[in-house]
Amino acid sequence: MLNFEDTFTATIKPVAPLGAMNAGSTNDGAIPSGVALRVRAEDKRIINGTADVNQLVPFKYKWAWDKYLSGCANHWMPQEINMSRDIAQWKDPTALTEDERRLVKRNLGFFVTADSLAANNIVLGTYRHITAPECRQYLLRQAFEEAIHTHAYQYIVESLGLDEAEVFNAYHEVESIRDKDNFLIPFIETLTNPEFKTGTLENDQKLLKSLIVFACIMEGLFFYVGFVQILALGRQNKMTGAAEQYQYILRDESMHCNFGIDLINTIKLENPQLWTPEFRAEIKALFLKGVELEYRYAEDTMPRGVLGLNSSMFKEYLRFIANRRCQQIGLDELFENAPNPFPWMSEMIDLKKEKNFFETRVTEYQTGGALSWD
Ligand SMILES: [Fe+2]
Ligand SMILES: [Fe+2]
Repeated sequence: MLNFEDTFTATIKPVAPLGAMNAGSTNDGAIPSGVALRVRAEDKRIINGTADVNQLVPFKYKWAWDKYLSGCANHWMPQEINMSRDIAQWKDPTALTEDERRLVKRNLGFFVTADSLAANNIVLGTYRHITAPECRQYLLRQAFEEAIHTHAYQYIVESLGLDEAEVFNAYHEVESIRDKDNFLIPFIETLTNPEFKTGTLENDQKLLKSLIVFACIMEGLFFYVGFVQILALGRQNKMTGAAEQYQYILRDESMHCNFGIDLINTIKLENPQLWTPEFRAEIKALFLKGVELEYRYAEDTMPRGVLGLNSSMFKEYLRFIANRRCQQIGLDELFENAPNPFPWMSEMIDLKKEKNFFETRVTEYQTGGALSWD
């Protein structure tokens, strides 16, 4: 059975007394007392750092700051996207086949809770173990983007008038979704456990493993069958509002995944002792398991071919993505001969917001001028 309690109720370690700038997580941002400690960039570390986490500059990890700026530049909100065509199609019994409807519901069944898991993992887990303020700044932005994604899925469910209880509880009720989440939970629990602290070889490896599972397997692999499915619907002029929401989510997620990969690679550089042959073998096994679970989910969402897609194309695609993720973190490719069956997906990731975002935009942001100060 799933055990989400810890994920949702884990409490953050109480703030240490002033001056307690402990090595090892958690560097909780308490203000150091005594002599003012000006931060030197060279003293910063991604994990187990002792430099003051409240001083964003001088930058050491400029890539994290740049990603924070890109995330802000790509800001979007779900209600800006017009859902009226989707609503009309969903009501029209001839607009979508039964298989397409099943696919949409199963797809949302995974995503409506996945981004809450992601947000909790960042806020209650990852954040406190990372001691570089530039990386924390990005994680704060990422956490808000996860909230926007949960909002987007909720907005689609509400727009289509789906049974909320059924969709939001799918991670308990649908086996292929439950299995994916059950795979993730132990890694999330490592980071969110209030007793867990980095600073030993064993625990630093546990942290690194959880970061790899989260960025490369969850955000970098488990999301991709779902993204392809909805974007394929959109390419056939079906559920175009939902497809547009997914395009923005995909763009955000590909940034999250890239940030995670930079984070992982920098931790490896700063702590080469963690990257042992046994550790690498463990990571490879996790990738293989992830591919297997995602493939089962693809089969479950598409028991027959739909939209010109079938589950064996996804087997190929998952192998292609797993190879790419392994390569990105310095592991050998897992599968030979794994070409990309969906080359059009890369255009979706490279979407330039300014190119077509505003064409379909239906609402304006609430600005300062619209606020009431009574
Ligand atoms: Fe997300
Ligand atoms: Fe994400």
